[in-house]
Amino acid sequence: MQHDNYVIDDMISAKAIAARVESMAMEIRNHFKGSEKLVVIGLLRGSFMFIADLVRELDLPVEVDFLETSSYGDSMESSREVRILKDLRGEIEGRDILVVEDIVDTGHTLHHVLHLLESRKPARMMVCALLDKPSRREVEVKADIVGFEIEDKFVVGYGIDYAQRNRNLPFIGSVRFTD
Ligand code: IMP
Ligand code: MG
Repeated sequence: MQHDNYVIDDMISAKAIAARVESMAMEIRNHFKGSEKLVVIGLLRGSFMFIADLVRELDLPVEVDFLETSSYGDSMESSREVRILKDLRGEIEGRDILVVEDIVDTGHTLHHVLHLLESRKPARMMVCALLDKPSRREVEVKADIVGFEIEDKFVVGYGIDYAQRNRNLPFIGSVRFTD
């Protein structure tokens, strides 16, 4: 796909994503089997497509809530300073929670968010990330379930943006600059 000064190379097909989401959902279902109080928490905005597909595969009574943290702006570099732009609407004390993130990169965002959520005393917490770039990690943090481990490339699609564009691609691709 041709853009102003970059192209997007195919990385993970829509079909491969769908298959992996299904298997992740099975793991999550088994983990929370019998739970009557699960809240699925999507980290905006990158996780919106992933969470939509994931909850449809979860045969459990779930509530859905969202949390938004400050983002990269239009740059490709992590700001490292994480701020909450939009907090959850509901209480999570005593609830089971599943945190849904698009990518774990330096780890700063997830580290900050998990610290905040833990302080609210949920019953059980599970963290699921569609993508993980372990080679980029700056703070130690680990998702319980990772969809795909990827190398250090800037990716877009399936909810994930570059300067707010390309979220609507049904697959995941990597950005390659042409000039
Ligand atoms: P971290 O705080 O460095 O781990 O970054 C986490 C957030 O940065 C992710 O939730 C994404 O929203 C964004 N991010 C990290 N890597 C990429 C990428 O390759 N493409 C687009 N956004 C990314
Ligand atoms: Mg994100």
